[in-house]
Amino acid sequence: MANKKSKTSFFCTTCGYQSAKWMGKCPACNEWETMREAPDENDSENDHKTPEMILTISELGNETRPLPLSQIDESEQPRQETGIGEFDRVLGGGVVTGSVVLVGGDPGIGKSTLLLQILDRLSTPKSTTLYVSGEESPGQSKMRSQRMGIDNDNLYFLSASSCEEIIKHFRKLKPKALVIDSIQTCHSPEVKSPPGSTSQVRQTAAHLVKIAKLTNTPTFIIGHVTKDGAIAGPKLLEHMVDTVLYFESDTQYPYRILRAVKNRFGSTNEIGVFEMTGRGLIGVDSPSSIFLNERPISLAGSLVSATIEGSRPILTEIQALVSSAVSGGIPRRTTLGIDRNRAALMIAIMEKRLRLDFSGKDIFLNIVGGLKVIEPAIDLALIAAILSSHLDQSIPTTTLVIGEVGLTGEIRRVNMIDQRLSEALKFGFKKIIVPKGNLSTQNTAKSNLKEIATLQELAASLFS
Ligand SMILES: Nc1ncnc2c1ncn2[C@@H]1O[C@H](COP(=O)(O)OP(=O)(O)OP(=O)(O)O)[C@@H](O)[C@H]1O
Ligand SMILES: [Mg+2]
Repeated sequence: MANKKSKTSFFCTTCGYQSAKWMGKCPACNEWETMREAPDENDSENDHKTPEMILTISELGNETRPLPLSQIDESEQPRQETGIGEFDRVLGGGVVTGSVVLVGGDPGIGKSTLLLQILDRLSTPKSTTLYVSGEESPGQSKMRSQRMGIDNDNLYFLSASSCEEIIKHFRKLKPKALVIDSIQTCHSPEVKSPPGSTSQVRQTAAHLVKIAKLTNTPTFIIGHVTKDGAIAGPKLLEHMVDTVLYFESDTQYPYRILRAVKNRFGSTNEIGVFEMTGRGLIGVDSPSSIFLNERPISLAGSLVSATIEGSRPILTEIQALVSSAVSGGIPRRTTLGIDRNRAALMIAIMEKRLRLDFSGKDIFLNIVGGLKVIEPAIDLALIAAILSSHLDQSIPTTTLVIGEVGLTGEIRRVNMIDQRLSEALKFGFKKIIVPKGNLSTQNTAKSNLKEIATLQELAASLFS
């Protein structure tokens, strides 16, 4: 019999795109120098799929067959609340049985801490859980759990990185929840490339997803992020799992924000806010209070607005600094936590409608506390902060501004105005500037409100 012709193929280490030829630039994700040679899939060495690795369906007694939608029992996918409210909210109301959740985040942000706390909550004498780490020894993990006051007889720790070994212990222990820390350290013997490579990540994730689905075990997979902030490995990884969460923060603050970017079982709008302490992560019930924490008293360029994250209003401080640019240089427009294009648009609108000239000015904009705000409801507040810094005139600390601004300078209504107002009133804001016609008739706090329709009206009412 003639030997099978050996065929070389190439794949992109960023997105997993495959090609028969090597290319300098990946046509799928447009990254340069990311194509690598893939191991030959026809290679007989690659064919030795270890029987141990595959959990057969008959073994699990979970035979699948088509069912009419109406006959599928909804309770087969129950949710389990962890009791950590900020985490449950981001997942859409708790952990769904058999779901696979990928958690990504910068080094040292607190991924292991968060998932250790979650497993601790899910562990009971009737439901043991398993934390698998390929990054830390049992001793290191014990140190962390001791610091956090976690000492749970039903939470098992395994230091392993081989998929085969993980599955072996999984079968013995039959845990009710599983954490893999991290997918980049896991490796599967049937793939030749090293741990962390695209094919390894894809293969090990496929095994883990299969186990989770067949045994109905909620599985949390930690993923490292690349320097651009995306989860390292093939983009395919995000398609394979049910939920993708990102854990992020501004490193100078102890606050961490958990955000869903994909969720098959809930909305992706909700965020969870945590504070990192020596005893682990503590959910922050009232994020407005932390984001307004170190607010300066009456300084030019600072102002508060009410934003909506998911279903929750959060008050955030917006800061602007307008200063003279180096003569002859290009004026800088630097933003932190705000979309740069949106900020440029607001600056252009101010130049046109308020007849201001920023051509010789550097403008810096910042959302305090590491929050990122993308909704246009902060447009008016951006303009107000820039105006305040430009005129070097402070806005009273009890004034709050809400509103979207259109290209012609018109002030547009925003959604969920009642929730924003009630949060602002709760925090004692006395004057709330809102778009004209935005208020519902039953709104009672009229005495605190100032309705405006144009930027001139904003300028006239901002500083008094
Ligand atoms: N005693 C302490 N007090 C307060 N915070 C601490 C303490 N010890 C550790 N931390 C915080 O915990 C963080 C490390 O948490 P953790 O190990 O869970 O992060 P990680 O995201 O898993 O990191 P890695 O990417 O290295 O795995 C530190 O960066 C620090 O912010
Ligand atoms: Mg870790």
